[in-house]
Amino acid sequence: MNTVMLRTICLGIICCMLVACGETDKKQKAATNNTATVTPDTAEMIETGQSIFLQQCVSCHAVNMNLTGPSLKGVEKRWKSNEKLYAFIHNSQAIIGAKDEYAQDLFDRWNKVQMPPFPSLKDGDIAAILVYIKHAEKN
Ligand code: HEC
Repeated sequence: MNTVMLRTICLGIICCMLVACGETDKKQKAATNNTATVTPDTAEMIETGQSIFLQQCVSCHAVNMNLTGPSLKGVEKRWKSNEKLYAFIHNSQAIIGAKDEYAQDLFDRWNKVQMPPFPSLKDGDIAAILVYIKHAEKN
């Protein structure tokens, strides 16, 4: 084997190593980016939440402005408990009827327009809608 061939082989090996390193570096960066912002779990929830929202809520609600119903931005902070919020989304009239002060006041402020009940939504669906809202309010 002469020196020229040896050099070419060495150069080839070095090139391969550089490319391989670059690739893993890129992959690692993508992985850390993902966990920092959207984990696969929440990405799935955002998608589910968005799809339910677009089918069942968007006729009256937007995340960042008032329509027939109030803007849903920051909605979780307005409710004393998540239990009440979930119950309201399931059947708003049941909570308003139970004289929950916040729900009653909201109903009055929105000119007593009734939000339809959504008995078929599971708690997991509502959780997904709320995750979607949180995601959408940042955009
Ligand atoms: C027909 C219109 C309509 C539809 C459809 C509707 N809403 Fe509402 N929603 C309202 C109105 C009006 C209010 C204000 C309270 C009231 O009048 O009962 C409200 C209030 C709310 C609130 C409380 C907001 C706050 O500021 O505390 C939440 C949460 C909510 N809606 C979620 C949903 C979700 C989730 C869906 C879809 C599954 C949905 N709504 C579908 C009309 C609607």
